[in-house]
Amino acid sequence: MPLNILVVGAGICGPAFATLLQRSNPMHKITILERYESLRTAGQQVDLKTQAPHILRKMGLMEEIQSRCVNETGLEMVDSSNNRTAYFPAASAGERRPGLTSEHEIMRGDMVQVLYDASVKQDDTLKGRLENHGGLHYEFGRTITALNQSSEGVNVTFSDGKKGHFDLVVAADGQASRTRRLAFGKEISDAAFKSLNIHGAYFSIPRIEGEGSLARGHLAPGRRMIVTRTSDRPVTGVLMFTMRKSDRLSASYNESQESQKEAFVEIFNDNEWQTDRLIEGLRSSKDFYADEIGQIKMSQLSTGRVVLLGDAGYCPSPFTGLGTNLCLMGAYILAGELARQGSDIKMALKSYEDKMRPIVDECQQFSSTGLGLFFPSSRIGVWSMTKLVWAVSKVNGLFPQFSKVDTHEDKIPDYPELNLEE
Ligand SMILES: Cc1cc2nc3c(=O)[nH]c(=O)nc-3n(C[C@H](O)[C@H](O)[C@H](O)COP(=O)(O)OP(=O)(O)OC[C@H]3O[C@@H](n4cnc5c(N)ncnc54)[C@H](O)[C@@H]3O)c2cc1C
Ligand SMILES: *[C@@H]1O[C@H](CO)[C@@H](O)[C@H](O)[C@H]1NC(C)=O
Ligand SMILES: *[C@@H]1O[C@H](CO)[C@@H](O)[C@H](O)[C@H]1NC(C)=O
Ligand SMILES: *[C@@H]1O[C@H](CO)[C@@H](O)[C@H](O)[C@H]1NC(C)=O
Ligand SMILES: *[C@@H]1O[C@H](CO)[C@@H](O)[C@H](O)[C@H]1NC(C)=O
Ligand SMILES: *[C@@H]1O[C@H](CO)[C@@H](O)[C@H](O)[C@H]1NC(C)=O
Repeated sequence: MPLNILVVGAGICGPAFATLLQRSNPMHKITILERYESLRTAGQQVDLKTQAPHILRKMGLMEEIQSRCVNETGLEMVDSSNNRTAYFPAASAGERRPGLTSEHEIMRGDMVQVLYDASVKQDDTLKGRLENHGGLHYEFGRTITALNQSSEGVNVTFSDGKKGHFDLVVAADGQASRTRRLAFGKEISDAAFKSLNIHGAYFSIPRIEGEGSLARGHLAPGRRMIVTRTSDRPVTGVLMFTMRKSDRLSASYNESQESQKEAFVEIFNDNEWQTDRLIEGLRSSKDFYADEIGQIKMSQLSTGRVVLLGDAGYCPSPFTGLGTNLCLMGAYILAGELARQGSDIKMALKSYEDKMRPIVDECQQFSSTGLGLFFPSSRIGVWSMTKLVWAVSKVNGLFPQFSKVDTHEDKIPDYPELNLEE
């Protein structure tokens, strides 16, 4: 039976899910809401490891993705005079080894664009071929403000005051999901956020001479870490992290982007490493994005006919490097179960939850103590950590990992119902 489905959020997993589901049954009517006026393509590199490349291959997108991958050759740690203190080469193709750089790395914006384009192209093809095709369409600059449900379906109120009725609502609106709050209540939704007490900012600045394809990491006293990543791109991506407690910073997420920028400037504006360049770049960057870093842990992934997908339901935090992998697995399994269970939405949502649970648990395993070591407060602390990282690099050339994952291809369930390639 064709369903009328609302997907909230056109990030990575929303469009991926919609494309997969439409392929299984082109009669579904799918609406994707995006709060921003256009695709939100900000963000730095995301890793495609473990199952992500296999799912993208099944979707027929891996070639396109690969041509847009950035090629980072490794990571060097540097001190405040830019002198190298440790070096970690990237894994070569086909080699399975952990590192900051994984086999496939792509800019988040490119990933979002490829998935969006694929969904639009598929919808156009189906429109031309089938008379009763339900259609997949995007609505930008729109979100939902209220939601009521019964066993019959979900009534929603849109931000423009209009109302709608859907068989299923998919919350794919990221870590701070408003849909999660509307469906589960503020208390449960807020309690699901487990902070790692780290704040992160991501933005791009002009590249300078001497910046090659190696990422550069710098540990600064005062619980701060800076990473610059250039790969083979014309610009330099900057990641700033801090474990310093700052009320101003925490409050800034409710305020304007200018206020977030100034909160980061306040913390990073001293004579440490590349300061003037980084601060000036931060202030003038057009793709600045900042957030408090944490994990989302929900004891249930759905309530009635509202289901959580991707970061909204199980953000593992960027320090695991598994957010994109996990959200693509979610999109694939949710679409697969809906295709398999037909109109039995309740059953499909239960199977989705059962299949995702062990995968989520594994991806969220994490050593926050290990992570804390990377944020020393004193100069002496930075000095010892620098020596430790150097020693680690000499032992096996592997960058220390905070997560322990062994999620391989064989964990991807097979869904012939999705009509995918292979
Ligand atoms: C701007 C941005 C930059 C990021 N940068 C990085 C990065 O550099 N490195 C990294 O590892 N991870 C980054 N992430 C997180 C990363 O994209 C996710 O961890 C992961 O890929 C899971 O994706 P997702 O589709 O679940 O959520 P997201 O990628 O967060 O996408 C959620 C989408 O929903 C939209 N949205 C939010 N609220 C609403 C609402 N109320 N109504 C409608 N739409 C809404 C958002 O605008 C966004 O397009 C970033 C996320 C965003 C939004
Ligand atoms: C990275 O290398 C691959 C394979 O050689 C290539 O297709 C891709 O275009 C390169 N990426 C960039 C950003 O140049
Ligand atoms: C950095 O290296 C230069 C030259 O190799 C050296 O003169 C300088 O003392 C080093 N700086 C630090 C802080 O080690
Ligand atoms: C949804 O809206 C319909 C029509 O407006 C109404 O009959 C129904 O009771 C509503 N359901 C809920 C759960 O609010
Ligand atoms: C949900 O129900 C409440 C109370 O019955 C009502 O005030 C509200 O307008 C309804 N919202 C939607 C989206 O139907
Ligand atoms: C941000 O706003 C939300 C909702 O208005 C509120 O619950 C939260 O406490 C605010 N956070 C901070 C740090 O001010």
